Amino acid sequence: MTARALLAIASSLLALLFSSSLVAQAHDASVANHQPHYYDVEDFGIDPDSVTFADHIAPILQRSCQNCHRPGGGGPMVLMTYEEVRPWAPIIKYRTAIRDRMGAMPPYFLEKDIGITEFKDDYSLSDEELAMIQAWADNGAPRGNPENEPPMLAFGDGNEWSIGEPDLILRSGDFSRPAVGPDWWGDIGLVPTGLTEDRYVSAIQVREVNDIPADGDTGTVGGRYIVHHMTYNSGVLSEDGTEVVGDTVSWPIHEVGRNADIFSEKAGRLLPANSALHLEATHMHSNGRETSAYVEFGIKFFPVGYEPQYSRRGPRTGNGIDIDVVPNKANQEFHNYVVLQEHTKIMAFEPHLHAPGVRMCMEAIWGHNQFTLNCVGYDHNWVKQYVYEDDAAPLLPKGTILHTIGFLDTTRANPNLADARNWAGGGRRSVSNMFIDLGYSVSLTEEQFQEEMAVRRANMKDRNDYDVSCPLCWAPEPVDQSLAQGND
Ligand code: HEC
Repeated sequence: MTARALLAIASSLLALLFSSSLVAQAHDASVANHQPHYYDVEDFGIDPDSVTFADHIAPILQRSCQNCHRPGGGGPMVLMTYEEVRPWAPIIKYRTAIRDRMGAMPPYFLEKDIGITEFKDDYSLSDEELAMIQAWADNGAPRGNPENEPPMLAFGDGNEWSIGEPDLILRSGDFSRPAVGPDWWGDIGLVPTGLTEDRYVSAIQVREVNDIPADGDTGTVGGRYIVHHMTYNSGVLSEDGTEVVGDTVSWPIHEVGRNADIFSEKAGRLLPANSALHLEATHMHSNGRETSAYVEFGIKFFPVGYEPQYSRRGPRTGNGIDIDVVPNKANQEFHNYVVLQEHTKIMAFEPHLHAPGVRMCMEAIWGHNQFTLNCVGYDHNWVKQYVYEDDAAPLLPKGTILHTIGFLDTTRANPNLADARNWAGGGRRSVSNMFIDLGYSVSLTEEQFQEEMAVRRANMKDRNDYDVSCPLCWAPEPVDQSLAQGND
């Protein structure tokens, strides 16, 4: 055997040994090599000739598409009736098969073959649903029996609150942008809440109200709004009412197209008596039409007397500063490591990169283990937050190293990129880059951590059942040393 053959064997053994830790990195994230996910519907026990709009496709469109692809929704065309859907069949087949990469429809880029799969409001398609769409499109998109079509969904005018009727609606001052002008970025002031007692928020939704007519001749989301995004916090108003003072609470960022935030029942956020929202940083842009607008905040509260179980925020991950993005190169990686100082429950993962971003993964390194919690594709046209189901949210012991990995592609294959030729560093502008997880986590006490794990264990069949979100679930429970000594 030659030395080279020996080397090959040794390195494949090594690869086997470390394969579990290589899973996330070994992935080819370059846009040029994105592979659509095509399936054979017969593998799901379905006769391809039997797949019809009425029986199979309409229910998928109702659940996962029509919220946007309806009159007044954000999508470019309506996908409600058979006549509306039929011409799009081949493109629907392609866009849904992209699944977890930029350009995918519906825009929910979770990689389903790795890590945790239970998320709130997950409207992505299953393998079987993709297979049905593909068989249907390949078969000439037959209608089937119209009598089998589900009743049409009724939608409002698009102005209703997705969180339901708010308990409190707050309104910013008015602002405007000229038809043409430079982008604007700055503080747009305070919004007093008028609360006379402390209340905990269960949900918050932010929306821009402006004077652009609903049927305005704009085909783009950017043409329908002037606020691009806004960061804001809250705190108690100073005596003269000109600033917020003391501890402030920061709220999830508002971005065009971002969903409302529904907080965990265990982690409501405080809006104290005599507080105000401080709209500290808003990015506005001109859209070709002189526009006046304000932003509205729809807020729902937990009942009076509610106290959150978890109020301490976990750490932020990512690196916004020393970023070095080289031109015209696929599969560039950013890495960030945070050592958890407390037991931590991760409630939501929200990758935030800029135009070169194509994917982000989150791994937990604990003891000898390195495991992937999740990987999601990234498309800078969309703001996506992935909120874990409460009983699937990662429960990580203190000392865990949380590792986030951003994947970038600055080649011409990436359609989001303005120019493939330039080096870029970190910064706030779209031509600069970011690498952060805007999701959120909470710190748990030892007692809370043990309680959460006991609930998880009760859901598992036996000790051989492994839950990637709970690495310590089957570890021996810590013994109270003081009691043990007292028994001597
Ligand atoms: C959250 C809103 C949203 C959801 C949900 C959504 N879409 Fe879209 N869709 C859009 C927007 C906005 C665009 C245009 C921008 C783009 O192409 O990314 C689009 C584009 C498309 C296109 C390409 C149109 C063209 O001109 O080529 C197709 C096809 C499509 N969607 C099909 C679907 C299907 C099928 C579903 C459900 C399985 C779906 N979409 C779910 C918002 C949505």
